[in-house]
Amino acid sequence: MPGHHGRPAGGPVSRNLLAIETSCDETAAAVVDDDLSVRSSVVASQIDLHAEFGGVVPELASRAHLETVTPVIERALREAGIAGGDLTAIAVTAGPGLVGALLVGIATAKALALGWGLPVVGVNHLEGHLASVYLADREVPFPQIALLVSGGHCMLTRCSGPGRYELLGETVDDSIGEAYDKVARYLGLGYPGGPVLDRLSAGAEDLLAFPRPMLADGYTFSFSGLKTAVVNHVRADPGFSETEVAASFVAACMDVLIAKLRRALEEFGDPALAIVGGVAASPVLRARAQVLADEFGTRLLIPPQAMATDNAAMIGVAGWHKLRREGADAATFGPEPDLRLRFAPA
Ligand code: KG4
Ligand code: ZN
Repeated sequence: MPGHHGRPAGGPVSRNLLAIETSCDETAAAVVDDDLSVRSSVVASQIDLHAEFGGVVPELASRAHLETVTPVIERALREAGIAGGDLTAIAVTAGPGLVGALLVGIATAKALALGWGLPVVGVNHLEGHLASVYLADREVPFPQIALLVSGGHCMLTRCSGPGRYELLGETVDDSIGEAYDKVARYLGLGYPGGPVLDRLSAGAEDLLAFPRPMLADGYTFSFSGLKTAVVNHVRADPGFSETEVAASFVAACMDVLIAKLRRALEEFGDPALAIVGGVAASPVLRARAQVLADEFGTRLLIPPQAMATDNAAMIGVAGWHKLRREGADAATFGPEPDLRLRFAPA
């Protein structure tokens, strides 16, 4: 592979990959070395920019990525103590995501790769989330039951190795993060909904007994009815308690997730349970998943809380996996807003 190596002559050779993530509302860059340790990870959030609209505004996101991506990359390289020309490769999120936002990351990655003479690899954002478990734990057993719960996705997969997934089931309507965001917006609590609903509900009881959608339906999820139940409750009771609603909503979501995970562990008995995506930052989910994993004698794999939401370190790990498996991409690849996981039987 072209490029020089990262350490002075005589020292151990270090191979470093620069990863770039701009698929939604975080502009992120990271340097990850080839034993998958993170040398730097910088995330510039656009939350403040989108908060007043209650969700991500695509045009604003693209423009903010354009302004922020170069300083974020410079900072990631500086914190890693590495010059661009000493990198081994560049990885960038190719999809799924907002087309204009993805384009900023991809164009930047290609330009830098051309300038520095490096190979570039396009990474599936969902594979990035699934690879985020390596940010907590380098020893990752397979097969895994892997739950991906983010703003855009809610799917349960069975994973037999990096890049090898079988779909067990997914949501028929909203993702769970989307349900959190919509409920928070409806209650006037701002964007994103996850952290604020978590905070409100901490320690509060589930008094409202909202429905647990599709509990009996295999591995299929649905969250839009639960959101409607919240809206109906609030309309019927103008004196409603935010804390009660938040706690009861979170409890209903968690009961569904845990029930599906329990079913999968009972059916497959896999040695590891992975939980990834923005909702994996939820302290309740982290605690309940640990209890479940202990009950089954299964290892819980979960990214550090700060690496559950979008970041470039996870794209770096998935980038190394893809580079080793398939080599670099031709420089002609572009954004793929609807990119899915490629499923193969476990
Ligand atoms: O993975 P992510 O950063 O972006 C996507 O790929 O979609 O996930 C963002 C989602 C948002 O819907 C947000 O409300 C949710 O993750 N989220 C949380 C928490 N932090 C973020 N949900 C529950 N608890 C949290 N602490
Ligand atoms: Zn994400």
